[in-house]
Amino acid sequence: MREKLLLIMIVFLWGWVAAGQADFITKDEYARMLYQNPRGIGCDKCHGKHGEGMVLSSFIKDGQIVELRAPKINNIPIKRFYNSFEKKSNLMPVYFLTDKEKAYLYYYLTKTNEKERIVSDVN
Ligand code: HEC
Repeated sequence: MREKLLLIMIVFLWGWVAAGQADFITKDEYARMLYQNPRGIGCDKCHGKHGEGMVLSSFIKDGQIVELRAPKINNIPIKRFYNSFEKKSNLMPVYFLTDKEKAYLYYYLTKTNEKERIVSDVN
């Protein structure tokens, strides 16, 4: 009986600690998670890990190679960033993000990324 009680207490405590840790994510981590999983397809799937832009697909039309691209979004003005969610697009999905979430996404793209800028960002 005693062991059982102890076991329950340990499980309870462990759960409590784990839950506490889940709460304790940094601003940078939250921003990155939102970018990768914004209640819909991750922005990274089209715009790249750091918002550097990506070629989504290419095809040949009239003998020319046509590239379908998601643009670079880690160096655009904040107003343009916010406005882009109001526009209708044939390619980019519609997201239902709060202003706070958009702010975090913008923060991720412009601030946290500065540390890990990659070569493809140069173009
Ligand atoms: C399925 C691919 C796809 C996904 C996923 C996607 N986008 Fe886009 N996005 C595009 C394309 C393509 C454009 C270029 C404009 C157009 O065709 O609508 C674009 C345009 C933009 C622009 C405007 C860029 C400019 O220069 O004005 C912003 C900002 C943007 N996306 C941010 C995001 C964010 C933030 C997310 C995640 C919440 C996201 N996108 C998810 C494909 C995508």
